Amino acid sequence: MEMRFKIFRYDPAVDSEPSYRTYTVSVQPQERILDCLNRIKWEQDGSLAFRMSCAHGVCGSDGMRINGVCALACQKLVRDYADSTEITLEPLPFFRVLKDLMVDMEDFLARVDAMRPYLVPDGPPPEKERLQSPEDHKKQEDVIRCILCACCTGACPVMQENPDYIGPAALVWAYRFLYDSRDGRFGERLEKLNEPNNVWPCENYFECTRVCPKGIPITKSINTMKREIKKHLPAGGEGK
Ligand code: SF4
Ligand code: FES
Repeated sequence: MEMRFKIFRYDPAVDSEPSYRTYTVSVQPQERILDCLNRIKWEQDGSLAFRMSCAHGVCGSDGMRINGVCALACQKLVRDYADSTEITLEPLPFFRVLKDLMVDMEDFLARVDAMRPYLVPDGPPPEKERLQSPEDHKKQEDVIRCILCACCTGACPVMQENPDYIGPAALVWAYRFLYDSRDGRFGERLEKLNEPNNVWPCENYFECTRVCPKGIPITKSINTMKREIKKHLPAGGEGK
């Protein structure tokens, strides 16, 4: 079968504004969107820019908007869009475009980094590793799957209204260490989350949860942290 791909094109170094270019590709229904992109690049237009690495939903580098929904190009098949005569590919919303489907991830990663996404344990280091029981590990089991693809942040309607909102992915990483039994900064982490642009701007749109390719219950995790702040911080939270 033949499928048309309408692809966002923009090179800020030479283009005054973005445009769309359409490519027709002979495809199999079981082919991934990433396979189609590669064929367009290799066979039709070598100037097309996009990121990819693992091609198996592990590295998180090919997040983009496919027919209006943020997703990984390597996890979506042509047959997922069998009702369409054309598949539109655009960069993740909210992010600055570097070229075509490639976006600038610096600010996104800096937001994750602001949540201290690493263990800060109390006390001297043990002789061997810091152990965690299976029960304690279970508390983090869902969020630990994050691959930093940024689909959630691109899909979040609050990011469009309030660009200072730290965003869902950064909060997933905050949750991952807040509930790590080996960490010693529970109180400090809660204080950080309570800052005005961290957990509180989330308005429960659930868009992040809908698009996460790893099935992470993002909105639920953010709500759990809001309740935790209300329980533990004397002022009762809400960014005060
Ligand atoms: Fe991607 Fe899900 Fe992690 Fe967001 S939470 S960056 S959608 S894997
Ligand atoms: Fe690695 Fe898609 S290319 S997640």
